[in-house]
Amino acid sequence: MWIRSVIGLRKFLMPASGLGLNVIRYNIGGGDNPSHHHMRFGGDVPGFRSCENCDYNWTSDANQRWILLAAKERGADIFEAFANSPPYWMTNSNCSSGGQNNENNLNPDYYDQFADYLTEVVKWYKEEQGLTFRTLEPFNEPTTGLWHEFGNQEGCNYILDYLAMANVIDKIVAYLNIKGLSNTTSVSIADEGAFEGEIATIAAISTLQLIGDHALSYVSQYNTHAYFGNSRIPLFDMAKNDGRRLWMSEWGSWSSKDMSASIQLSEEILNDMRNLKPVAWVYWQVIEHAPNGTYGNEYGLIGADFSNSTISLDIRLSFYGFAQYTNFIRPGYQIISTDDGDTLAAQDASNKTLVLVCTNKYNASDIWNFNVSKFNLSLFNVYRTSNNNETLKLLPNTWNITDGILTYESPANSITSLIFNVTQ
Ligand SMILES: *[C@@H]1O[C@H](CO)[C@@H](O)[C@H](O)[C@H]1NC(C)=O
Ligand SMILES: *[C@@H]1O[C@H](CO)[C@@H](O)[C@H](O)[C@H]1NC(C)=O
Ligand SMILES: *[C@@H]1O[C@H](CO)[C@@H](O)[C@H](O)[C@H]1NC(C)=O
Ligand SMILES: *[C@@H]1O[C@H](CO)[C@@H](O)[C@H](O)[C@H]1NC(C)=O
Ligand SMILES: *[C@@H]1O[C@H](CO)[C@@H](O)[C@H](O)[C@H]1NC(C)=O
Ligand SMILES: *[C@@H]1O[C@H](CO)[C@@H](O)[C@H](O)[C@H]1NC(C)=O
Ligand SMILES: *[C@@H]1O[C@H](CO)[C@@H](O)[C@H](O)[C@H]1NC(C)=O
Ligand SMILES: *[C@@H]1O[C@H](CO)[C@@H](O)[C@H](O)[C@H]1NC(C)=O
Ligand SMILES: *[C@@H]1O[C@H](CO)[C@@H](O)[C@H](O)[C@H]1NC(C)=O
Ligand SMILES: *[C@@H]1O[C@H](CO)[C@@H](O)[C@H](O)[C@H]1NC(C)=O
Ligand SMILES: *[C@@H]1O[C@H](CO)[C@@H](O)[C@H](O)[C@H]1NC(C)=O
Repeated sequence: MWIRSVIGLRKFLMPASGLGLNVIRYNIGGGDNPSHHHMRFGGDVPGFRSCENCDYNWTSDANQRWILLAAKERGADIFEAFANSPPYWMTNSNCSSGGQNNENNLNPDYYDQFADYLTEVVKWYKEEQGLTFRTLEPFNEPTTGLWHEFGNQEGCNYILDYLAMANVIDKIVAYLNIKGLSNTTSVSIADEGAFEGEIATIAAISTLQLIGDHALSYVSQYNTHAYFGNSRIPLFDMAKNDGRRLWMSEWGSWSSKDMSASIQLSEEILNDMRNLKPVAWVYWQVIEHAPNGTYGNEYGLIGADFSNSTISLDIRLSFYGFAQYTNFIRPGYQIISTDDGDTLAAQDASNKTLVLVCTNKYNASDIWNFNVSKFNLSLFNVYRTSNNNETLKLLPNTWNITDGILTYESPANSITSLIFNVTQ
């Protein structure tokens, strides 16, 4: 059944434009030592206190502030603040990209000031901008060992220093209380690079275990990045067991001109949704500096040359590849099981819409036969992104359902979203 022009339905099924994302993570800058010049473009995030005796300067970080508030205006409704590094003047190395020889870098004399700083930013946004961060995350990949002085982006190691992390959490909770924020903002940790793995000490699950029950009792949400690890299942089990919200808070892949970045992105989403089962899946990052239309060395779904006074946006194929998910599997949808590893299935809360996102990662076309006999499907739309100039393209009728079996042929290296109306 094909009805092309049911305006109300299409409006319901698809956001007007863009990716339709509703979660935004705001990077509370440390700000680097003003005498240092070693960060890549965008690697140092302007802080709000540029020295120990300086006042807070709320005109700082104008660009990111603009994006945050513009996202809110456009419908983003879940906000998290996180820090890659404390301000340089709270660190051992006097540098916000990390310590000398990759050593741990938060000066122990500054646990209190770091917590005060982060919560002051949260308070300012709430009271002055009407924006409430639901969670505050003080760490980023704290035990991966990646962060060193004179590096190209902000970072701070806490290797085997679970006590320092626990202290920071304690102080944050105290300040959230003092500042009247504890009803609206809670703590999330630890944004490790891996969910679980051979090098256990850099994995989300071990940091959460080793940080101690006292600190963990203050934490409402477990965040993990999905770059590394063996099995995603133990962290899901732990979050479930502990009654904590679980986020896949960061993943990204190199950009590409063809579908390969989209396929990689899709495979990650499929694996994460199937095994880690986070309630939010957050991409790093939507737009990145890519001088002169170059590709490869960054993660942007959109590339832009921010050093050029004329900023033109290069909307990449991976933007549409991601939109194949985000435009249709909307907040509140429930992921339902399928026995096909290349397909993600979801239903809206009222069970009136069924979405299948199917990835053909192969270099040849593939015919899918889905047994959808348990659903009473009336009409549906199909969108596809592929190497053949298809960017979220609404397709003509290329499928059929016979005796409960939906047959659909996908071209090589493509992602297809099938959106059904379900009648009860
Ligand atoms: C840290 O850097 C600041 C700014 O360059 C400088 O004023 C200060 O003396 C430095 N502190 C140390 C301990 O080197
Ligand atoms: C506050 O930050 C803005 C933006 O970076 C800067 O132009 C201004 O000089 C700063 N004010 C002070 C008092 O440092
Ligand atoms: C937090 O919420 C509780 C229960 O709703 C309320 O009694 C308390 O006054 C609130 N505290 C603050 C600081 O808003
Ligand atoms: C971009 O192209 C312009 C003009 O050709 C050139 O001046 C500039 O160096 C290029 N920038 C980079 C980062 O390659
Ligand atoms: C700036 O962007 C414009 C428009 O895309 C382009 O023609 C020009 O070469 C760019 N300049 C540099 C220096 O990259
Ligand atoms: C939707 O379906 C799920 C299981 O398939 C069920 O648990 C849930 O109650 C249904 N919701 C409604 C509103 O019917
Ligand atoms: C598809 O072709 C590319 C380029 O020839 C190759 O690198 C890749 O491994 C192939 N993918 C599969 C799934 O066969
Ligand atoms: C489709 O699935 C149903 C159970 O949901 C089953 O009864 C039926 O035999 C299946 N059809 C085919 C062709 O396998
Ligand atoms: C399927 O939907 C149609 C149209 O609403 C309805 O007539 C039919 O009774 C439904 N069948 C089942 C098994 O629910
Ligand atoms: C995509 O569209 C462009 C411009 O319309 C055309 O030149 C190109 O051949 C098309 N590529 C494919 C793979 O269809
Ligand atoms: C159903 O769709 C498939 C895939 O597009 C096609 O090969 C097949 O011929 C179609 N069957 C009917 C009966 O239309």
